[in-house]
Amino acid sequence: MTSVNEILKKALEIVIPSEEERRKAKKAEGELKRRLNNLLEKFNYIEYKFLGSYARDTWLKNNLEIDLFLLFPESVNEKEMEEIAIEIGKTIVDEYELRYAAHPYVHGKVLGVEVDVVPCYKLKRLEKIKSAVDRTPFHHEWLKDRIKGKENEVRLLKQFLKAGNLYGAEYKVRGFSGYLCELLIVFYGSFYELINNARKWSRKTVIDVSKGEVRKGKQFFVVDPVDPKRNVAANLSLDNLARFIERCRNFIEEPKIEFFVKTKVELPENDAIATEIESRNTAICIVEFEKPEIVEDNLYPQLERACKKIHEFLSRQKFMPLRSDYYANEKCYLMFECEIKEISRIEKRIGPPFEEENHVKTFLEKNKEYRHFIENGRYCVYVKRKHWKVEDAITDYINKNWKSLGKNVGEEIAKGFRLFTGKNILKEEIEDGLKRKLVEFLAMKF
Ligand code: UTP
Ligand code: MN
Ligand code: MN
Ligand code: MN
Repeated sequence: MTSVNEILKKALEIVIPSEEERRKAKKAEGELKRRLNNLLEKFNYIEYKFLGSYARDTWLKNNLEIDLFLLFPESVNEKEMEEIAIEIGKTIVDEYELRYAAHPYVHGKVLGVEVDVVPCYKLKRLEKIKSAVDRTPFHHEWLKDRIKGKENEVRLLKQFLKAGNLYGAEYKVRGFSGYLCELLIVFYGSFYELINNARKWSRKTVIDVSKGEVRKGKQFFVVDPVDPKRNVAANLSLDNLARFIERCRNFIEEPKIEFFVKTKVELPENDAIATEIESRNTAICIVEFEKPEIVEDNLYPQLERACKKIHEFLSRQKFMPLRSDYYANEKCYLMFECEIKEISRIEKRIGPPFEEENHVKTFLEKNKEYRHFIENGRYCVYVKRKHWKVEDAITDYINKNWKSLGKNVGEEIAKGFRLFTGKNILKEEIEDGLKRKLVEFLAMKF
């Protein structure tokens, strides 16, 4: 067996940027400064700073992106700040697109290098914070000396997470942000120490970086050293925390370079998936609809909501849903698997206890299809179900309740959707990403 040290040495080759990449970055930085200095003669009240992973030399090989922050005095109002920042951003990059976070900002390229141009306020103290980006200069000040000498440890962690689809705090991933990675490395001192200790974390672990202590709290919480109320791991989902810890345990048990490589695993043949679907005899339903034109950080929470709503409905209707999930690429998909394919035509409705005379009256008024009966002192009736197949139930639910499925997702679904049952999704050309999702969803071995 190869030792951990040998593996980490190999992994460093994957994560440390090449000299050529560094030169390219330096050139772009110089060019950016030159363009900015010309421009800022007009806007001399604005300062600029390089922040984020480029400024701290913690960026991952082949993932260079320069974060340039424009710092505005508090006297400038938000709207004006956004407009000026966008104007400056557009002028200093070669090609650009607008992106949306706390404020809209410019993402573009300078001499072939990706750049984010982000506006924020220049604050003396953090108490007056207006939006999340205003913390960034404070984050940089706190980290810049503490991270010195540990840059490659941060890189190992980022790559370890990336290979496990756990890197990034955006809603699509709900994993670890770059800042969180750097704090964890400062706290534990090295990649190995972090991985080794994380095996014992729980969902109630609190890591207080500036106090240098680990304690138990209400939820997994990494205390922001510049703002003790803020949880730096707020966007990390419980399941992704668990996946990370599983990954740490597996790595320590058997260190392998594969933990740092995003492996393109061979997916099973369509026939094998179809056979599995047939043989397990569950009800699988996949709803396909057009993707609304909104940013990912808005789309994914809505997909999650839509999924949850339909899942809860299926559960209320006693279809016994096993799992549900969503996927978005060219189009959007909601997927459901239930233990019950088809349910009885009648169901039992339990009404009020006999003591409540008025309630009993209204209950009997409303339910006249069958004769009532009394069980454990309560009035009961049978009622005919409106639908007995999972797919009909889902269709009916969507048609009546599309408004509760998230604003844009709901509106898009209301315009039209296609519903695939069982192995039918495999009859058409199925894109790789969706197929991967389906295989994962079915928890098939491959
Ligand atoms: P990045 O997402 O670029 O992260 O945000 P990073 O630390 O540089 O890591 P990589 O290597 O690029 O992946 C840079 C800083 O900008 C702030 C965060 O504080 C982060 O530390 N930021 C960024 C926001 O506040 N909001 C955003 O939407 C994006
Ligand atoms: Mn960055
Ligand atoms: Mn980034
Ligand atoms: Mn960025």
